[in-house]
Amino acid sequence: MAHYQAIGSIPPKRHTQHRRPGAGSTPGELYYEELMGEEGFSSDSSLLYHRNIPSTTIGAAVWEVPDQSTTPNHPLTPRHLKLHDLFEAEAVPGTDVVTGRRLVLGNGDVRISYAVAGAPSPWYRNGIGDECVYVERGRARVETVFGSFEVGEGDYVVIPRATTHRWIPERSTTDPLRAYCIEANSHIAPPKRYLSKYGQLLEHAPYCERDLRQPAGPLLAEDVGASPDEQTEVYIKHRGNGPGGVVGTIHTLPFHPLDVVGWDGCLYPYVFNVRDFEPITGRIHQPPPVHQVFEGWNFVICNFVPRKVDYHPLAIPVPYYHSNVDSDEIMFYVDGDYEARKGSGIGKGSISVHPGGHPHGPQPGATEGSIGVESFDELAVMVDTFRPLELGEGGLAVDDGLYAMSWSKGAGRPAVPGSPHSEG
Ligand SMILES: [Fe+2]
Repeated sequence: MAHYQAIGSIPPKRHTQHRRPGAGSTPGELYYEELMGEEGFSSDSSLLYHRNIPSTTIGAAVWEVPDQSTTPNHPLTPRHLKLHDLFEAEAVPGTDVVTGRRLVLGNGDVRISYAVAGAPSPWYRNGIGDECVYVERGRARVETVFGSFEVGEGDYVVIPRATTHRWIPERSTTDPLRAYCIEANSHIAPPKRYLSKYGQLLEHAPYCERDLRQPAGPLLAEDVGASPDEQTEVYIKHRGNGPGGVVGTIHTLPFHPLDVVGWDGCLYPYVFNVRDFEPITGRIHQPPPVHQVFEGWNFVICNFVPRKVDYHPLAIPVPYYHSNVDSDEIMFYVDGDYEARKGSGIGKGSISVHPGGHPHGPQPGATEGSIGVESFDELAVMVDTFRPLELGEGGLAVDDGLYAMSWSKGAGRPAVPGSPHSEG
């Protein structure tokens, strides 16, 4: 994110002395400067000024990460995964967004997990790649070494690789925090085609810098009611020889991780709300890339938001059948009127898995049913991957096992009544 920010106390010149206040003529102790940068000093970076030496650790233990094993989608089958069945209500108060997330789908480039959480997470950093956590429902405070965010429904929380942070859900018995966690093995950023050669979001992009929320800060231990000297555990997800190449370690620090008095640079977490995405529409059907919001290595993230639809006099608002031969297509249905889709089983909280090698599109009757419709009231988040996705234990647990037959008119299962819907 080539969008410079400066927060808190930083020296006028980088890599020069920056000290805490001294006593009389005695200079204060130096802060410890850390450069956090991508691609080996050749891409975006930030400079953080710590009270403590950032390398310090006084203990290391194994963190048994949630099950990362995956099962191939074989025989090849479109699937409907019912995420809202993954967590029993009584389990929510004891579940946190970091250690409680369950793997739904994954490959060598990206993993999609889901958590319904009522408990604060431990301090955490993902050393494998950036995370983009979509808040489906509920509210939380996300505390990071760059500052904090108050997040809620529709927020994408983009957290760079190796950012120490934690999730503190707002306690609610009726509307718990539901987090759709997209973990890259790479970085997650706005699509390159939206950016100027110097990194500014261009006029044709569906959002701009003004729509991105920056960290409030700086955030220090005492700001969250903790002692700066409080011994703390930090859960680190990193590369290793576990399933999916993912393992975990817990480092013990002799101090609180919120010790950054100031930082500046172009690498930091930020939040973008899906309601700030301005849809791009046309006379005839626009292809899914107009819905793209972010990209990582070998995958894209798109969102389908409430919008006016195709206005050619003979337009068909729902998509043509498509073989997107290079991609697996994962649609997460977040909101909107899916009640009319009785029969397909898809509803709020559903995921459809449309794998490469299998053409997909509207269920029977939906094409005719969409003609004359002027707008879609729906909200969905899509991840398209260029390598096949495999099913995690969470995905396998909530596969309805019926979806593959939903295009069969009367064969295998009831036909799906026609209704307008988007790309699924
Ligand atoms: Fe599609």
